[in-house]
Amino acid sequence: MDQLTPTGSPDLVDARRGLVARAAFTSDEIFRQEMAQIFDRVWGFVAHESEIPNPGDYVVRRLGSAEVIVVRDATGARVLLNSCKHRGAKLCRADSGTARNFVCPYHGWSYERDGTLITTTFDRHLPADLARSELNLVVAPRVEIFCGLIFACWNRDVAPLDDYLNDFGWYLKAFLARTPGGMEVLAPPHRWRTKSNWKVGALNFIGDSQHILTTHTGPLTLDPVRAAQKGFTKPGERSFQLVTDNGHGATITYLAEGMPEEAYRTHPAALRPLYEALLAPAQLGVLDRLRVAVGTIFPNLSFIEAQCGPAEKAIILRIWQPISGTEMEVLSWVLAEREADADYKSRVLRNGFRNFGAAGVFEQDDLELWAAATQASDNPIAAAYPYSFHTALPYMDKPDPYHDLPGRAYRPSDTEVAQLAFMMHWQQMMTRDASHD
Ligand code: FES
Ligand SMILES: [Fe+2]
Repeated sequence: MDQLTPTGSPDLVDARRGLVARAAFTSDEIFRQEMAQIFDRVWGFVAHESEIPNPGDYVVRRLGSAEVIVVRDATGARVLLNSCKHRGAKLCRADSGTARNFVCPYHGWSYERDGTLITTTFDRHLPADLARSELNLVVAPRVEIFCGLIFACWNRDVAPLDDYLNDFGWYLKAFLARTPGGMEVLAPPHRWRTKSNWKVGALNFIGDSQHILTTHTGPLTLDPVRAAQKGFTKPGERSFQLVTDNGHGATITYLAEGMPEEAYRTHPAALRPLYEALLAPAQLGVLDRLRVAVGTIFPNLSFIEAQCGPAEKAIILRIWQPISGTEMEVLSWVLAEREADADYKSRVLRNGFRNFGAAGVFEQDDLELWAAATQASDNPIAAAYPYSFHTALPYMDKPDPYHDLPGRAYRPSDTEVAQLAFMMHWQQMMTRDASHD
């Protein structure tokens, strides 16, 4: 570890010793490698289905290193490179909207919603033998939807999304597909930029119970939150870290012993019969006892389902979009079951943005610390000293043998097992040969 170089060294993560090079969290060179080795090769979340309910509805997002238009056409969701096939102009300037078709603002080429070229307006000058399909927009070759989450991938040969999510999908179904209508996004996402590496967010959400009581002393003294604290359990009692294949993980915390599940469960009673019809008893069991679930789907999609008080909850989806080695853009959505009543949805929305929006009480604490950590690590002196993940080490090889749900569970939940497992998967992706896809 002492000879770490900031350029794709296979030693960036020393799992045996619980060390990760700071360069992984600051280097632009490593950021570029991440784009090529990870983001352009694995499934990436681009939008929730409810953001584009009708034909022509679109949102502009990033897929890997490129900006894309996620649009609903006659057949479903399409993901188009937001760059004209003529000279590359950006077709869509808005964040979202509804379009009959896409017209380039530069020389006027126009495209159907599925990316097919309609006309260059100078078609009469095109060579007679030109295959016009060559001029269609670039389309992401793979798009799949899981529980309303639209994923896409630039890698044509990527394994099916179901296989990629695998055991983690079992939990996602319980969180995001537990009623016939599924979830809906309650408002456009909050978006903000922060001078921090994207993995800081991904790791924080996959399993960083250790920061709660120091980072969030402010909000934890607020009354509504303190009331909800009663529902917290002690680490190790009714709480575990979940680790699944492909780098996904979560921290799941149940209500403390003695808490009235009826009063504190995170969902309104009217929705429960709908859950019963769709979920397996074990999935329902997770939801009924849930205090908070917070997790990350590798590489950069995170979620929270949190109790904010009796029968008050927030459900958040979040992406950590890399901008450089030291900057990311965060997008944060609030969701609720489509079948929930309007009053309930408005409370979920308020809880969601109040706690986890751009000005949310938790975000304010986290973001300042994350940016400062990135800045303090981004110099040659600090770079020589790797980050410590030591509290994972005594537990890494000891998953709970009695865990009877999908994935591996680790207890207690206030270690760094899930974070180190994430970094080990990251390291694997960074060093593996593309021909293995
Ligand atoms: S760049 Fe789009 S029409 Fe020329
Ligand atoms: Fe936090």
